[in-house]
Amino acid sequence: MKIKNICCIGAGYVGGPTMAVIAQKCPEINVTVVDINEERIEAWNDEDVENIPIYEPGLSQVVKEARGRNLFFSTDVDSAIDKADMIFISVNTPTKTYGIGKGMAADLKYIELCARQIARVSKTDKIVVEKSTLPVRTAEALKNILDNTGNGVNYQILSNPEFLAEGTAVDDLMNPDRVLIGGDIDTTEGKEAVEALVDIYAHWIPRERLLTTNVWSSELSKLTANAFLAQRVSSINAMSELCEKTGADVNEVSKAVGMDSRIGAKFLKSSVGFGGSCFQKDILNLVYISKSFGLHEVADYWEQVILMNDHQKRRFAAKIVQTLFNTVSGKKIAILGWAFKKDTNDTRESAAIYVADYLLNEQAEIVVYDPKVKTEQIYADLDYLNTRSTEENRARVTVVNAPYKATKDAHAVAVLTEWDEFKELDWQKIYSEMLKPAFLFDGRRLLERKSKEELGFEFYAIGN
Ligand code: NAD
Ligand code: UDX
Repeated sequence: MKIKNICCIGAGYVGGPTMAVIAQKCPEINVTVVDINEERIEAWNDEDVENIPIYEPGLSQVVKEARGRNLFFSTDVDSAIDKADMIFISVNTPTKTYGIGKGMAADLKYIELCARQIARVSKTDKIVVEKSTLPVRTAEALKNILDNTGNGVNYQILSNPEFLAEGTAVDDLMNPDRVLIGGDIDTTEGKEAVEALVDIYAHWIPRERLLTTNVWSSELSKLTANAFLAQRVSSINAMSELCEKTGADVNEVSKAVGMDSRIGAKFLKSSVGFGGSCFQKDILNLVYISKSFGLHEVADYWEQVILMNDHQKRRFAAKIVQTLFNTVSGKKIAILGWAFKKDTNDTRESAAIYVADYLLNEQAEIVVYDPKVKTEQIYADLDYLNTRSTEENRARVTVVNAPYKATKDAHAVAVLTEWDEFKELDWQKIYSEMLKPAFLFDGRRLLERKSKEELGFEFYAIGN
């Protein structure tokens, strides 16, 4: 079966880049990305390709090449579904904020709405691909909704979780370690559907990296991969606290441990805590699923990864307060970096939000500089926590468009995102314009200690 028309529901961090790359690599397939968010679609269609709503290195080039040729962005969800042979569902699956499973389970309402819309609109057979990260066995629920419409349309459901990381999305999509496709491989129709998706990726990815499994393994592998990655960060962050007590240096420990080929070097960088839209949400979901099967030890084991991460963020903020003579009340603290990692404008679950909130509770005056994050986003992130009023957040937090505006007259500077440009700042200038003693807190192990201490900074770095 040759796919001619693809529809992707959800033009977010996953749907946008993934479909742009598929369209670029498969010029004979028409790819339409749809969303209910009109503003987002308008931005994807902006004449100036630099204004697309998601910042990812290399993405604007890919969009430029394919947009208008075989890549389209639209709010007309129904007509894109109607035309498509294959429909990717790439909508958000956030942690539930209400009812049963509140604060733990994945909220599947957007997924179900998509399924019902597909069921309502479809007149021809469709392959429906779960691109969103979903609890294991969600495909069963999807199939149930789709099959019970009585309009004679046949659906095949595939699971094709996305492993891209933000900031490197285009590279990850162009050259993935593997692509995972789960399908009903016991039936001919199921096998054909899997093959149809394999054929798409085979346009640019070697076949041996296209891994096919049953649907449940595929769904669960995505949660497992994120849990393992986050667990490595929490493991090294746990060691960072021990390093600080013992004179060991977490970077040296990480290097020594990572050179063991059984362990490997990646994801062992100690930090102020992991953020991003996936790790916490997906582990909480895993914990919830484990509990719902009565697997309490399994649930507790994975929950500890989150508890450790919360501790790391709190510990970093508390260190600032303690170092500044146990009070930051009325003191200006400059935060460099608000995104959850470098090279993205995404701030979801960023450690910076929690560190700022902690310092605001201690009555600090916060000034933030981030090269890519918009001012409204920073206020929205703080407002979302509901710790204080919108007005108070605006009164106590200032967002500036240049690093030196943030650091001037500050009591302390905290580096919370590892943007490359922070390494190249004129730290002599920063030091001379700060109040003394000038405190510098490196939550990313980005800066070199010796030169900063020589300039006169009181320097604290995670795990050292
Ligand atoms: P996102 O919030 O950036 O984008 C989701 C989009 O779906 C939004 O623009 C929203 O308006 C749209 N949407 C929601 N319901 C809709 C509907 N009924 N019809 C049309 N559009 C609708 O989310 P994201 O970061 O792209 O994540 C999407 C999924 O991919 C999630 O399940 C996430 O866990 C998973 N994932 C994310 C990443 C990542 O790095 N962000 C990586 C791998 C997997
Ligand atoms: C993650 C997964 O890596 C990706 O495969 C999945 O599809 C989505 O979730 P993402 O959240 O975009 O991707 O970024 P990632 O590079 O994993 O970083 C997550 C967080 O962990 C960031 O805050 C990052 O700064 C932090 N981190 C990562 C560390 O603190 N130390 C590390 O060694 C690695």
